[in-house]
Amino acid sequence: MQILEGEKVTKYFGGLAAVSNVDFYVGQGEVVGLIGPNGAGKTTLFNLISASLVPKPGVIKFKGKNITGKKPHKICRMGIARTFQTVKIFTNMPVLQNVLAGSFFGTSPGMSSADAAREASESLEFVGLSDMAALPARDLTLANQKRLEVARAMATRPELLLLDELMAGLNATEITEGMELVKKIRDKGITIVMIEHVMKAIMNVCDRIIVLHHGEKIAEGTPQEIATSKKVIEVYLGE
Ligand SMILES: Nc1ncnc2c1ncn2[C@@H]1O[C@H](COP(=O)(O)OP(=O)(O)OP(=O)(O)O)[C@@H](O)[C@H]1O
Ligand SMILES: [Mg+2]
Repeated sequence: MQILEGEKVTKYFGGLAAVSNVDFYVGQGEVVGLIGPNGAGKTTLFNLISASLVPKPGVIKFKGKNITGKKPHKICRMGIARTFQTVKIFTNMPVLQNVLAGSFFGTSPGMSSADAAREASESLEFVGLSDMAALPARDLTLANQKRLEVARAMATRPELLLLDELMAGLNATEITEGMELVKKIRDKGITIVMIEHVMKAIMNVCDRIIVLHHGEKIAEGTPQEIATSKKVIEVYLGE
């Protein structure tokens, strides 16, 4: 079954087609990589899926239902969670409180405080931040702030998780740990779409890769197919 489908998804900013006529699908349980040079439209596509932007024209379906034009909080409650390229944590709040926001506003609205607290603690444990629960979020390293965003997203109990450059700015050890975290999320049965410039991570973790360039989908295939695609190599390295 396709958990996510996009038909002719397009978004203009003035005269610029940031995303242009993109058809895509994501299968249940897949890890799909979304790659492309800077400005290719990757984050815009995430903004369209998570509904902070609305495609025009275009249709986005989640579990077969048309979700185009729904509000972002509704999309979250339906089971799509995301992280951000530039982390958007609540810096002055303790780590645990950041995750509680996810528990309270996720797919199980009306949750009791005790249940939300348990859920948030489990999420922190899952990403390995339990020891830091009481620290102000601003005191975490970048790698841990990114984990915190994952924990907050996981606390909403998503079926589909969108990760926007989880590995950017991390060192080699942190990238390896980040890849392990992605696999752990997949093993929970959560479908993942990940935007990434760190090719090692993409090649190692993804079942399938979609390549955007100037807003258009220029290639799609297994990591092996993408790594050897002449078109993709040209886009990255020049002809
Ligand atoms: N809110 C906006 N208003 C105007 N232009 C925008 C807006 N958001 C993105 N763009 C433009 O749309 C294009 C695609 O941007 P986007 O952020 O989606 O690229 P990206 O593939 O995520 O790039 P990167 O790898 O650098 O993060 C770029 O030319 C960008 O400048
Ligand atoms: Mg981006």
